[in-house]
Amino acid sequence: MKISLVSAAPAALDVDALAIPVATAEALGQAAQALDQAMGGVLGEMVANAEFRGRIHEVLPIPAQGKIKPRRVILYGLGALHDLDGQRLRSAHHELVRASRTWGYKRLAIMRVEPLGMDALKGVVEGAVMGTFERRSRQTGPAPERREIDEVILAGYGTGREAEVIAAQENAEATNRTREWQNAPANELTPDALAQEATRIAKRHNLEVEILGPSELKAGGYNLLLGVGAGSARPPRLIRIRYHGNHQTESADGTVLALIGKGITFDSGGISLKQPENMSRMKDDMSGGAAVLSAIDVIAARKLPLDVMAVIAAAENMPGPSAQRPGDVVVSADGKTVEIVNTDAEGRLVLADALTHALRNGATHMIDLATLTGAATVAIGHAASAAVSNDDGFWAHVERAAREAGDRVWRLPIYADYRVLLSSKIADLRNAEYGEAGTIMGGMFIAEFAGARPWAHIDIAASAWNTNDDLSTVLRGPSGAGTRLCIELAELMAVAGR
Ligand code: BES
Ligand code: ZN
Ligand code: MN
Repeated sequence: MKISLVSAAPAALDVDALAIPVATAEALGQAAQALDQAMGGVLGEMVANAEFRGRIHEVLPIPAQGKIKPRRVILYGLGALHDLDGQRLRSAHHELVRASRTWGYKRLAIMRVEPLGMDALKGVVEGAVMGTFERRSRQTGPAPERREIDEVILAGYGTGREAEVIAAQENAEATNRTREWQNAPANELTPDALAQEATRIAKRHNLEVEILGPSELKAGGYNLLLGVGAGSARPPRLIRIRYHGNHQTESADGTVLALIGKGITFDSGGISLKQPENMSRMKDDMSGGAAVLSAIDVIAARKLPLDVMAVIAAAENMPGPSAQRPGDVVVSADGKTVEIVNTDAEGRLVLADALTHALRNGATHMIDLATLTGAATVAIGHAASAAVSNDDGFWAHVERAAREAGDRVWRLPIYADYRVLLSSKIADLRNAEYGEAGTIMGGMFIAEFAGARPWAHIDIAASAWNTNDDLSTVLRGPSGAGTRLCIELAELMAVAGR
């Protein structure tokens, strides 16, 4: 899908449809009023008569009947202005493009989103491109007709901002790539297949890539990752990609940002087997790994002046004759002993070894993305990722990145009072407790392996995949959560280090 900026009058554009943003309880903007006049007042009438209210995801096509050059006008809703943040802005444009595709439009013009304190261009482009997402079908038989928009034309942003448009397009395409990987069935996207995807990305940008398999993992003492993968016939992989961008700046400050992803290609729970209901969703337990892969792809392509590594702990959590058991005690790569209380709390185990691996390879700042706890859904639901961090300064970057990326995060507290819940009678730590603060506890376990380095943990268990039909303005199914957050964080830190 091509995206272009025009300065021509919208009424003169040769397009299938011209889309006009409308917020609830707001009058039409100036440019829209001029169009309304040309259309004989029909737009104002739809709004005045509350046939169109401007609610988010409301999309109404109106025939232009030759009064203006575009064949149709589309009124589309932004919701209430005071609710409009980067994530909802993207969601509104995701829906606009999705609906326009179903109507068979090939050329779609979108008028500027103006009544905002924010610069909307990036969010509009990202939302629009995310709206082209279509999960790959694995059905046989004749392929269903795919309706795609050829060109989106943005009116009112001036011209000369093409570089911003291209960057936003890349961010959204990276998000869609994450979504595609999330969707991939676990018999296709195995730990080794994930490693091959990583290798492909590294080769494309000439990046250093290292894939550790069972023997190397054993040599390195990565027993937590090995333990989680032990029940599966598909051996685990510890994937590391290294991008060197810091040498491009004169005052390189030595920052090495590690993007660390949970890459459980399927989480059956292991011996602590999950219930069968919805177990199939656990094919997306590699969503964090997918997000960091997509992100480093963009970071490298953009040649950001910052050193970045991606580390993905990939394994399949299965029961089996060689699976680890509840009660096992495992020595982690950094030497701490862990009592495995529940084999289904595997994410924190593989991430612990992944953090150790990142530190061994020179990480100075770490962010991990993981579908870690069902409790995240209880705590904040699908509309945001839950987070914890050990460093306010680093967290400030993460929070700002999230805002600018339209990829929400919400920080939960780490209270020392909870630390006791992680203690074991027979080992240094136990991997699960039952009771309270499940998302925080998962994060606090991982924190034990962050050394004294600034670290943030993003629990995307709920945000990565929306299963709630009622939450219609939150992306349904796989969302690619965390992808744009990581890209934006690298961009912010590249600027901060200069
Ligand atoms: N991958 C799951 C978390 C999850 C649950 C993601 C539902 C998406 C939807 C994780 O490995 C897990 O099983 N966590 C346990 C932890 C518990 C045993 C301490 C959970 O949340 O129940
Ligand atoms: Zn899991
Ligand atoms: Mn689990």
